[in-house]
Amino acid sequence: MEGRRVVVGVSGGIAAFKAVLLVRELQRRGARVRVVMTRTATRFVGPATFAGITGRPAVSELFDTSHTGEIHVELGAWAEAMVIAPATMNLLARAAQGMADDAVLATLACTDAPLLVAPAMHTRMWERPATQRNLERLRADGVRVVEPVVGPLASGDVGSGRMAEPEAIADALGQTLRPADLAGLHVLVSAGPTVEDLDPVRFLGNRSTGRMGYAIAEAARDRGAVVTLVTGPTALAPPRGVRSVAVRSALDMEGAMQAAFPSADVVIMAAAVADYRPAAPSAQKLKKTDGPLTLKLVRNPDILAALSSARSGPRPILVGFALETENVVENARAKLARKGVDLVVANHARDGFGGDSNLVSLVSPDAVDELPRMSKRAVADRILDRARALLDG
Ligand code: CTP
Repeated sequence: MEGRRVVVGVSGGIAAFKAVLLVRELQRRGARVRVVMTRTATRFVGPATFAGITGRPAVSELFDTSHTGEIHVELGAWAEAMVIAPATMNLLARAAQGMADDAVLATLACTDAPLLVAPAMHTRMWERPATQRNLERLRADGVRVVEPVVGPLASGDVGSGRMAEPEAIADALGQTLRPADLAGLHVLVSAGPTVEDLDPVRFLGNRSTGRMGYAIAEAARDRGAVVTLVTGPTALAPPRGVRSVAVRSALDMEGAMQAAFPSADVVIMAAAVADYRPAAPSAQKLKKTDGPLTLKLVRNPDILAALSSARSGPRPILVGFALETENVVENARAKLARKGVDLVVANHARDGFGGDSNLVSLVSPDAVDELPRMSKRAVADRILDRARALLDG
């Protein structure tokens, strides 16, 4: 993490003393570190300790007149990653609520950088349903949790809730802080299903959750890209620091993709685009009749194929997805040629929908890379690795 900018947030628990060792460990790995503290944290470790080892004041007061401007805004923009260690039960609760009533949370509120929390508390507090609920909520917001371990606690009890060791927290941070190898590039991603209206209350849809496309958008953002995410309706929150364009039908998606296409360096079509739409959607709610109902459907445009024909040179790199039930690799190869794209991410139809992990093969004209099962975020990084390599020729 040579030269990378990390904000360490310290909240008020006994494990705050280990935050000093964490700062040291991050510096040893080459990071530039600045520290923010809650007021309670300053009762466990002195700001002078952090100031001494970082060479910058440790910020614990938002109303400190010794710095000009808004320090939380400045730190939030400066950070390439933020890690809160230790994160107390109270801090997790306030963070999950989106509160910003101290220097640590105000800084968090002002950053688009990836965020890690390393909880530390007594086992009883760790096991409270409220704590676990708050952690779930933070995870859903994209926060990475460095789980506490089982071990001796400050109280003398032994149990879970002991903060992870500084080396383990630094490792997790290192994984999050990918090299900014997509800086200066525009990555355009589509995600989710498209929804084709039959009438004002009914539609044809599919089971895509959007998670794979959202994971790609977040990974590209974390690697420094400017990201546009064109998304069909999903239950997911728009990722921070990404330009999200919400669409509904395949025709809407086509329009949004074409609008963003001219400035794109990489285009990744992870959306499950409906191949057909109702020929004549009704402006009024369809009434039932006694006989059977026949719907007439017409073909939707192939968005990816159209983008491919619009491309004049090697850029943008085009990546498509293929959902197959059989002959996964052969079908992906055929799709590669038919759609004129550089890479096809092939997943098996029994896999991939809804879950957090995925089993895919990356198929390009000259290679097939069968990846082991991994998280959607890890798959996202592997796809971006390939896109990066393709850009480099
Ligand atoms: N796609 C698209 N526009 C469509 C349909 C699909 O851009 N109207 C994109 C998808 O986002 C995906 C890729 O094309 O990246 C492959 O989608 P898929 O539906 O599996 O492919 P089809 O070419 O429709 O193949 P099949 O004949 O297997 O349905």
